[in-house]
Amino acid sequence: MDLSFPLIILVVRFLVSLMMFYLILSASSSGVQPLCHDDERFALLQFKESFTINWSAFSDPSAYPKVSSWKPESSDCCNWDGVECNKDTGHVISLDLSSSHLKGFLHSNSSLFHLAHLESLKLANNHFKHSPLPTSFRQLSRLTVLNLSASVFSGQIPSEILELSKLVFLDLSDNPFLKLQKSGLRVIAQNFTNLEVLHLDYVFISSNVPNILANLTSLTFLSLRWCDLHGDFPVGIFHLPKLQLLRIGGNEYLTGYVPELNKTSPLVTLRLGSVNFYGELPDSIGHLKSLVMLTACFCNFSGEIPSSLGNLTNLIVLDLQSNRLHGSIPQSISRLVNLETLYLNDNDLSGKVEFEFFLRLRKLDGLQLSGNDISLITNPSTNSTFPKFTKLFVADCDLGEFPEFLRNQDQLELLDLGGNKIHGQVPKWMGNVSTETLWGLYLEDNFLTGFDQLPVVLPYVNLKALDLDCNMLQGSLPIPPPSIAFYKVPNNRLTGEIPHLICNLSLIAELDLSSNNLSGLLPQYCTKLEAVNLGNNQIHDIFPSWLGILPELRILILRSNELYGTIGSSDSNFDFPKLHIIDLSNNDLTGKLPSEHFPNWKAMQIVDAERLKYVEEYQTLVTLAGDQMGHTYSFSMTMINKGTKTLYERVNDLLIVIDLSNNRFEGEIPDEVGNLKGLNLLNLSSNFLTGPIPFTLANLTWLEALDLSQNKLSGAIPLQLTELTFLSHFNVSRNHLTGPIPHGKQFDTFNVSSFSENPKLCGSPLSKKCGNPEDSLPPSSSHNSEFSFEFGWKVVAIGYGCGFVFGVVSGQIVITKKYGWFMKTFTIGKARRRVNWRGRRN
Ligand SMILES: *[C@@H]1O[C@H](CO)[C@@H](O)[C@H](O)[C@H]1NC(C)=O
Ligand SMILES: *[C@@H]1O[C@H](CO)[C@@H](O)[C@H](O)[C@H]1NC(C)=O
Ligand SMILES: *[C@@H]1O[C@H](CO)[C@@H](O)[C@H](O)[C@H]1NC(C)=O
Ligand SMILES: *[C@@H]1O[C@H](CO)[C@@H](O)[C@H](O)[C@H]1NC(C)=O
Ligand SMILES: *[C@@H]1O[C@H](CO)[C@@H](O)[C@H](O)[C@H]1NC(C)=O
Ligand SMILES: *[C@@H]1O[C@H](CO)[C@@H](O)[C@H](O)[C@H]1NC(C)=O
Ligand SMILES: *[C@@H]1O[C@H](CO)[C@@H](O)[C@H](O)[C@H]1NC(C)=O
Ligand SMILES: *[C@@H]1O[C@H](CO)[C@@H](O)[C@H](O)[C@H]1NC(C)=O
Ligand SMILES: *[C@@H]1O[C@H](CO)[C@@H](O)[C@H](O)[C@H]1NC(C)=O
Ligand SMILES: *[C@@H]1O[C@H](CO)[C@@H](O)[C@H](O)[C@H]1NC(C)=O
Repeated sequence: MDLSFPLIILVVRFLVSLMMFYLILSASSSGVQPLCHDDERFALLQFKESFTINWSAFSDPSAYPKVSSWKPESSDCCNWDGVECNKDTGHVISLDLSSSHLKGFLHSNSSLFHLAHLESLKLANNHFKHSPLPTSFRQLSRLTVLNLSASVFSGQIPSEILELSKLVFLDLSDNPFLKLQKSGLRVIAQNFTNLEVLHLDYVFISSNVPNILANLTSLTFLSLRWCDLHGDFPVGIFHLPKLQLLRIGGNEYLTGYVPELNKTSPLVTLRLGSVNFYGELPDSIGHLKSLVMLTACFCNFSGEIPSSLGNLTNLIVLDLQSNRLHGSIPQSISRLVNLETLYLNDNDLSGKVEFEFFLRLRKLDGLQLSGNDISLITNPSTNSTFPKFTKLFVADCDLGEFPEFLRNQDQLELLDLGGNKIHGQVPKWMGNVSTETLWGLYLEDNFLTGFDQLPVVLPYVNLKALDLDCNMLQGSLPIPPPSIAFYKVPNNRLTGEIPHLICNLSLIAELDLSSNNLSGLLPQYCTKLEAVNLGNNQIHDIFPSWLGILPELRILILRSNELYGTIGSSDSNFDFPKLHIIDLSNNDLTGKLPSEHFPNWKAMQIVDAERLKYVEEYQTLVTLAGDQMGHTYSFSMTMINKGTKTLYERVNDLLIVIDLSNNRFEGEIPDEVGNLKGLNLLNLSSNFLTGPIPFTLANLTWLEALDLSQNKLSGAIPLQLTELTFLSHFNVSRNHLTGPIPHGKQFDTFNVSSFSENPKLCGSPLSKKCGNPEDSLPPSSSHNSEFSFEFGWKVVAIGYGCGFVFGVVSGQIVITKKYGWFMKTFTIGKARRRVNWRGRRN
């Protein structure tokens, strides 16, 4: 027994050491990882400390703060979230902090740059507060993967990044404040010879695309959308042997054509939207057997749609909208059984197409054929089930009536039947179509007289946009459901008072009831209203001053009604904190201008710096919000500006207008007008205003048009007005002004009709010489009278009513016989289409 005890100990010891040996053995055979290096661990912790966790404003649902698991007390940083080390050396080789809610400045002395062994760095979807990209990236010379997409970096991309010659993956996309140096693409092509992925969408490149980019034979992914590229696009890029994705949309000044394509091409995605490509789509496009997405929209392609497209049976998206394609839709398209999206709208396509044509496309979900000369025929005897559409744009297709097959559509979200010569009533069964899903219903430019058995409120419970413009609707105003945001029903024959139910539309942002025969005014307190257009009705009432407390009201148009009485009397609320457009012209309003309220019109006082900031924020929004942007700033309206009836395709806070012309206002023009510093257009013509032109108007530095004609103004034209360098339209004719006309700058461009019928006014351009030599004023010193300014507005002049449309868009003359095209393109609520055109989104 005495011996047995030590023996047991021995045996136990032996077993234990055996076990340990085994453990060590098994550990080393699976390659135990060396702990991370202290300096790198420390660098990571320091990096973490330099940021805050920003919980707001991240749309990516998978985002979470990876760094929150990094703790000083945990020694092995190789196990930290987002960190990867080399198995042998223990050095940190990969850091992935994409979508990690990081917010803060990235300094050039950041400890990040101590991680000299990094091969892969991903910081996409964070917020680096407009940091410039540090030159210290030079220290990370082993990088093969660099992804800094959508992370709010600003400034010029330093050449040090373009020297990371091992890169095979470079993604700096969605940083709209980043700029690439002019030669940047060339340097990239020269330095990154093994590059496989180049993604620079929304980086400001502003150069041409060098041919040498076609030398990057390893490229699989090339995306350069919205980079302000110009010049000719090198055709060699289409022939890159490994290229699977090519996206160059949104570069309006990039010209090019689609070359003959090779059977061996592995292209899966080809997106050419909104570039200035021209010519025909080659038959050989049918060689791209792998193609899944083909968008060649908003270009200048001509010729016919190649029937070889019917061989691309993997296609899911085919978008050729807004080109100059003609001929008929090839039969072969019906072989594309995987097609979900087919957009052929706004071309010159013609011919008769039976709806049954689309029957084989079982997966078709979005179909756009509007804006062609196509006649769509529905065969009522056909019993087959149609694909369930979510988006059906068949405007201008000669339908003549509501197609029967719509009866079975229960998933429609957007339905456009505009311009189809549909007569009579909206059939009763339409009241059962997609009542849960429909959010955009466009029936404008038809001959509709009403809704058959109209329920009190239209039954589409989620409807956001309803357009009934230019029909023959009679009787009382149809009431959309409370979900509605945009409601247009101008140019109809509606009569009676505006029903009180309209107040249940608590989300409505734009209401256009203009050009009807409606009488009463809006009932009170629809508080969300942002835009009200009741112009051209017969509203006989006093001014609805309660509108002034609407916190969101930005646009108020009551032009051409029978409003009477004073506005803004001292006891009324007339604050209009966000108002930037007020058009009360052609009414019977009397009394003084509401000068005591002008100081409260805050939105009209916004000037340069804030505007630029606004533009910047707007750009960020465009980028970050992606497809959502169309909803934010999508008002359109017509207004008389500079004497021309003008359609503003997009009205945002940059356009500031007061039009009180053609009323019976009296008294002086108050000095306080000079505080509304943001004004672009001030029209007080045809009133009974007296006294002098206040020299404070010279403070309105953004003023483009000033019309004071047909009043009883007296005194001299203030010399200070020559400082208004954007002024392109000026009219003081038919007043009692005296003395010499100022000269210099813009004033040298105004013609005689701007000054006529002021008997005591003298000097050029009037023929009357100024007798007194002191009356000849010297011209102002600097000369920039040729400066003409449109502050980026794309303005479209239109004829009256629903007629012929012509205009100027982006500096190009656009003349279209398809008048509906513009009207529709710019119609409220057609967010998607409007963005397509205006934003030239691809
Ligand atoms: C690019 O490729 C072309 C033809 O393949 C070749 O002639 C040219 O030298 C290459 N350029 C560079 C800079 O490698
Ligand atoms: C197609 O590609 C192959 C391989 O890259 C090449 O040999 C051939 O010349 C190309 N054909 C055309 C028409 O470009
Ligand atoms: C469209 O292409 C034609 C040539 O096919 C050209 O004459 C025309 O100027 C182009 N239009 C635009 C707007 O670039
Ligand atoms: C489609 O492909 C077949 C076989 O590859 C070919 O014979 C035919 O010409 C192609 N059709 C068109 C319209 O290009
Ligand atoms: C449509 O189908 C129904 C049953 O599915 C059948 O009774 C009817 O006769 C068919 N109508 C036509 C016109 O084919
Ligand atoms: C609408 O649908 C309901 C329920 O399915 C049905 O009772 C009604 O008759 C339908 N109305 C019309 C006009 O089709
Ligand atoms: C409006 O009513 C007047 C008569 O009150 C009529 O002359 C005019 O044609 C009507 N306008 C419309 C658009 O119906
Ligand atoms: C309109 O709103 C009022 C009060 O909010 C409510 O009582 C009424 O039922 C609503 N009417 C309709 C038709 O929704
Ligand atoms: C000012 O309004 C009058 C009448 O409404 C109009 O005729 C004139 O063209 C307008 N002036 C400007 C500059 O738009
Ligand atoms: C100025 O207004 C008068 C009438 O009010 C008009 O006849 C004249 O054409 C206008 N001049 C300009 C340049 O708009």
